[in-house]
Amino acid sequence: MTHVAQEKWSSGTAFLLAAIGSAVGLGNIYRFPYVVGENGGGAFVLLYLGIVAFFGIPLVMTELTIGRRKQLPPISAFTALSEGKKSQPFWKCMGWINVLTPLGILGFYFVVSGWTLNYVYSMISGQLNNLVEGQTLKVFTDMQQSPLTLIFWMTISLSITAFVISRGVKLGLEKAVKILMPMLFLILVSLVIYSAFNGGMRETFEFMFTPDFSKITGKTVLEAAGQAFFSLSLGSATMLVYGSYLPKKESIPKLACGVAFADTFVALIAGFAIFPIVFTNGLELDSGPNLVFVTLPIIFDQMPFGQLFGILFFLLLAFAAVTSTISLFEPAVSNLEERGILTRGKGSLLVGIGLWCLAAVSALSMNILSDVRLLTFSDTVASKNIMDILEYMSANAMMLINALFAGIFVGWVMKRKDVLEELGLDDSLLFKFWRVIIKVVVPVVISVLILQLFELLDPLMAFIL
Ligand code: PFF
Repeated sequence: MTHVAQEKWSSGTAFLLAAIGSAVGLGNIYRFPYVVGENGGGAFVLLYLGIVAFFGIPLVMTELTIGRRKQLPPISAFTALSEGKKSQPFWKCMGWINVLTPLGILGFYFVVSGWTLNYVYSMISGQLNNLVEGQTLKVFTDMQQSPLTLIFWMTISLSITAFVISRGVKLGLEKAVKILMPMLFLILVSLVIYSAFNGGMRETFEFMFTPDFSKITGKTVLEAAGQAFFSLSLGSATMLVYGSYLPKKESIPKLACGVAFADTFVALIAGFAIFPIVFTNGLELDSGPNLVFVTLPIIFDQMPFGQLFGILFFLLLAFAAVTSTISLFEPAVSNLEERGILTRGKGSLLVGIGLWCLAAVSALSMNILSDVRLLTFSDTVASKNIMDILEYMSANAMMLINALFAGIFVGWVMKRKDVLEELGLDDSLLFKFWRVIIKVVVPVVISVLILQLFELLDPLMAFIL
């Protein structure tokens, strides 16, 4: 096989922007506020922060280490790093699963990212002005019922992403995040300042930082872990591939902390942009996925400069989504390119066509194919349509499974000396602490979470006890 040398980020800052771009996405601005709302606020936030600190940061370090050690994309990286081991075929297979997972995520992410573009357009064209009661819900459901609208906007979102990817690491990825990330930050800050002047900040503080531990259940823990993993782009080859472009002189632990800090900061700030508006207008906190697409437009319609504010908000979401879809698209193309199978341009086209088909089916599962059920093995999945199944299997199950095996790989398969060298932590207490987390705590905790996800924990406990 002809291996093609990979491009590198031009600096640590370029990596940081791209990795933060990947981490900060719909998960932070669209999903985080509504899961906090649904799960009762403070206790969930605290749990989330704990998971990011104890599992998130060590796992980001782990995935960057796998990628950077041989500076190869997932399949080649797992194969090369397990050279000479009996388990090598298994790890090669894990490489494949790692590359396929982000494609599954994109199957639904492109559809939602298309919604955000549609809302930018609807806001600009004034379709969300002068609404009467219940109309925003109608706009949202009408969009979901229209295959053409969904597929049109999904196609735009996919084409922008494929175009950026086809231009390569420096000219495509780096250039896109250098423009998009500062704009994203500016928009977010202006939204928070606006919210600060319009009341509801005190209630937001109380809601987000006063924990009521009675609200924590097994399901909440799973939800918080799933949200943290998704938000940090873990278990989906992204950090592995972005790590493979990282120059050797950059410090993995520092960069991992930078990514986790920025990602969490943006999620919290998104709460501070959205909740004050919800509080001052006496709206429902637990309106779930409708929070951003149904509840907020009502408020934008009523407030001064609301249209401008609304345009900015949905632009923010759209930018955040693009920098994440780029990172989800890259592993497959990087793999095809490095193995000499296809050039970057052709690889982007091929992956783009495949993904278009998957995302189109996913979009149709909200309307024409809404009755199709692919899995029926438990009550939880039996009620899910194709798009929800894609989300459940890729963003929940596969991400957890990949993260689990990344931990086992770095903890038990890679040479300690190599890992030490890559992390540059010397044989310090910090290194030992990280290693215990990765070798023991991560495998145990994630295994329990996976059992809980598939509703196997209770039967297993009943069997043991
Ligand atoms: N972290 C992104 C978000 O919060 O929206 C989603 C994501 C991007 C997940 C990249 C996984 C990934 F590899």
